[in-house]
Amino acid sequence: MSEVSSKVRVAVVFGGRSSEHAISCVTAGAVMAAMNPDRYEIVPIGIARDGRWVLVESAAALEITDGVLPEVEAVGGAVTLPMDAGAGGLLVVEQGRVPVALGEVDVVLPLLHGPYGEDGTIQGLLELAGVRYAGAGVLASAVGMDKGFMKLVWQARGLPVGPYVLVGDREWRRERKRKLDEIAELGFPVFVKPARAGSSMGITRVTDAAGVEAAVEFAREHDPKVIVEAAIEGREIECGVLEGLDDGPPDASLPAEVLVGGEHDFYDFETKYLDGTTRMAIPPDLPPAAVDEVRRLAAQAFDALDCEGLARVDFFYTPDGRWVLNEINTMPGCTPTSAFPQMWAASGLDYPALVDRLVTTALNRPAGLR
Ligand SMILES: Nc1ncnc2c1ncn2[C@@H]1O[C@H](COP(=O)(O)OP(=O)(O)O)[C@@H](O)[C@H]1O
Ligand SMILES: [Mg+2]
Repeated sequence: MSEVSSKVRVAVVFGGRSSEHAISCVTAGAVMAAMNPDRYEIVPIGIARDGRWVLVESAAALEITDGVLPEVEAVGGAVTLPMDAGAGGLLVVEQGRVPVALGEVDVVLPLLHGPYGEDGTIQGLLELAGVRYAGAGVLASAVGMDKGFMKLVWQARGLPVGPYVLVGDREWRRERKRKLDEIAELGFPVFVKPARAGSSMGITRVTDAAGVEAAVEFAREHDPKVIVEAAIEGREIECGVLEGLDDGPPDASLPAEVLVGGEHDFYDFETKYLDGTTRMAIPPDLPPAAVDEVRRLAAQAFDALDCEGLARVDFFYTPDGRWVLNEINTMPGCTPTSAFPQMWAASGLDYPALVDRLVTTALNRPAGLR
């Protein structure tokens, strides 16, 4: 607690260097708007696209307006982050401003998506500084960011994943023919994806062997590590998971079905955020036993990665009634139209209660190894 008030002091960190910068800003705007000012003192910290940290004056403009995405502007004096354990960890020092000691905030909400945010890097920084933060720790964040490693862990735990081929940077440069043969064995169509991206950035649905190389090159613009997956025929169903309270197991929300409309092939960036043709069915039309099973699998997928705080687990539900894991997001989008808050609202936890829950679980856990 800070000396001047008994409010919980929360640093909300958003923006960031990844291609999901804007989505993070929209999430942060909604989260801050939902925080009760009588209970919370908010320190809004934006990370500009160039990686610069800035103290943000007003969080009011953090929404999509007329299709224009918000962003953190690298304005004001330089912000530095000296690591000084004696002075309470990280300091955000901006010229002409009172320095903010991150060590003196009660908790950090790193509402960042993608590399340098959702992948364990900022979590590592906060661990070093000894600051409590919401969401997954270093390893879970890193594994949850990497579509290759997340599948390996789930497979090892006997959880259902579809067929895939990983294409590392060196393999692509030196063993391309062998990799292309492996990919062809998956059959077509395939989905070619950067291993560590999000918001459908860099993803192509490829219908024949002739399209693979260009799709891999496109994915490599986001990440030198690429994953190629057999296309799974099925409905897209997501489930929210929250760390349990009082040492209990994780809680899984009611699921949501993503209904992609229009002429889109799949749930791409535009359908996700811009064109308004995607709908969510919460809860989806599913047999009760299938709902129970997906909630159980979502909690198991969360535990398999040692996740903390929150995650959204995404599945395919095949026509013959099987669940296949697609991916986990350890910092799911929480814009007002995002599935995660909507699933929790349908499960009885409205947006402000959801934010309270995240802060509470983060405050309850110790910093350091746990
Ligand atoms: N193996 C697959 N089979 C069928 N559709 C897929 C597959 N992989 C991805 N997709 C489609 O592409 C979208 C984005 O892929 P996803 O792996 O979720 O990436 P991101 O991390 O960018 O959200 C999915 O929501 C789905 O519509
Ligand atoms: Mg996805």
